[in-house]
Amino acid sequence: MTISDHMIQTAMLAEKKHSFKSFICACLLHDYGHFVIEDPNLLVLKSLDGKHEEVGFGFLKDYFKPEVTEPIKLHVQAKRYLCRNKSYYDILSDPSKISLVLQGGIMDDEESRNFTSLKFYKDAIILRKYDDDAKIPNIKMKKIDDYRDLITSQLINENNHDRIISKTTLS
Ligand SMILES: [Fe+2]
Repeated sequence: MTISDHMIQTAMLAEKKHSFKSFICACLLHDYGHFVIEDPNLLVLKSLDGKHEEVGFGFLKDYFKPEVTEPIKLHVQAKRYLCRNKSYYDILSDPSKISLVLQGGIMDDEESRNFTSLKFYKDAIILRKYDDDAKIPNIKMKKIDDYRDLITSQLINENNHDRIISKTTLS
């Protein structure tokens, strides 16, 4: 499964639950940082490799409102938060357990308090749960173009839509 398909599936789950457009857009673009990291013109960001949520946020925040970009920024923190619950941690895949360590490990009490004081932390948790579930092979998939109007509706400046969509189609 490609990263694009995974992102589309995450958005499809949000749609199924009748989420706000801004949240569907957040789900759709949550792993956008992977495309930015691979962009040779932005090699300078290589030092942030592995922090795809921050790279994605850094890029997208100039185009989208906080309702879209904040859950993206926080979705890895949400994983670290959710792992405080052992039954959540236990069902993570081995690669996800390994990346958890690189991402800072399970949140301690203070980190958890800080996280849950953030405005968009609940959205980030839901995003992370859809992210976990959006790995189903061979289901009927939407196309990125099906989301063109939705993405455009969430842009701060509508003229930027080609820039966002063309990059997502590349993978
Ligand atoms: Fe993801």
